[in-house]
Amino acid sequence: MTNNKIKLGWIEISPEESNLEIIDVGEKHFRRKKAFITGIAGQDGSYLAEYLVDLGYEVHGIVRRNSTPENQHNRIDHLEDKVHTYYGDLLDQGGLERLLDKIQPDEIYNIAAQSHVRISFDIPQFTVQTNALGVLNMLEAYRRACPKAKFYQASSSEMFGLSVEDDNFQRETTVMNPVSPYGCSKVFGYNIVRNYRRAYKLHTVNGILFNHESPRRGSNFVTNKVAKAAAKIKLGLQDKLELGNMDSYRDWGHSYDYVRAMHLMMQHDEPSDWVVSTMETHSVREMCELVFSHLGLNYKDYVVQNPKFLRPEELPYLKGDSTKIRTKLGWEPTYTFKEMMEEMVDHWLKVYTK
Ligand code: GDD
Repeated sequence: MTNNKIKLGWIEISPEESNLEIIDVGEKHFRRKKAFITGIAGQDGSYLAEYLVDLGYEVHGIVRRNSTPENQHNRIDHLEDKVHTYYGDLLDQGGLERLLDKIQPDEIYNIAAQSHVRISFDIPQFTVQTNALGVLNMLEAYRRACPKAKFYQASSSEMFGLSVEDDNFQRETTVMNPVSPYGCSKVFGYNIVRNYRRAYKLHTVNGILFNHESPRRGSNFVTNKVAKAAAKIKLGLQDKLELGNMDSYRDWGHSYDYVRAMHLMMQHDEPSDWVVSTMETHSVREMCELVFSHLGLNYKDYVVQNPKFLRPEELPYLKGDSTKIRTKLGWEPTYTFKEMMEEMVDHWLKVYTK
């Protein structure tokens, strides 16, 4: 155990505090920090759990019950013996409160959501219940069960909607003008987190994360949909790829880099709101070009538009200014856009050549 790890994943306690896993370093006593993650089985939840386990945290998390339990833990199968999972749901405040009361976490990461923007037009009420009321349920459970903990809320660049500053960026001070039920629900979550920070003096943090991807991304989000289809086309397993709007721009980073940012902002003494982004933007078309050319193909020969994948209202352009987290906390992404997309394509090539 290095001193560095003691700082990050362990917390200093008084000698009287009883805990099975206390370690002594000279005069000082430490125990593992405890984290509670909603959405632990999702892309970000799984990277975050991995990262925190590695730092020495005791990690707890909830997964939603569904009728095919075989698939529910796919992304965290490799952590089976290292994390504690429970059934839970953001709509079940009583259950959340009982768990928080029992676990008494030091840090709560509220990452669970109905996270698909186009699908939020199909199931708007469920989206708003989960992403807006769900945040309030978590805050109430936290306020009652463990108010000394710190609370992270997964806020989103989708909240900016149509607003772009004169220098073509969106940042912490940009006005929010959401264009989807998902975006509207996230604005409520963001605001109620700020409200509870001021009203009850709780340590609540908003991470305003721009799009973040990885091989663990659901394959109905555009990057992984394109990466997976291109790999299948290359291997002769698929002929065409149907997409919606190819002229929207996104600021795409890697989920691994973004969960490091979540943890970092939770270690800062002052609770605040932080934009996390690469500060670059690319169109869906450019992303297709990059992915197909990595495989020696021309995307124009395979990609067709299907109106089914268009949105009733589109968010055309995102580019985040993450100067605040870079200068105050020293965060930097480690992946370039190209490296990330190639990692995703190579992942699918491996899956389908087995
Ligand atoms: N999903 C999808 N499928 N998107 C497509 C397709 C398609 O077939 N064709 C074009 N697109 C375009 C969408 O219209 C959108 O402009 C862009 O690709 C990105 O879509 P998604 O990958 O679905 O992500 P998103 O930007 O809508 O939302 C993601 O990022 C948000 C952060 O801004 C999600 O991860 C949200 O949960 C997250 O908050």
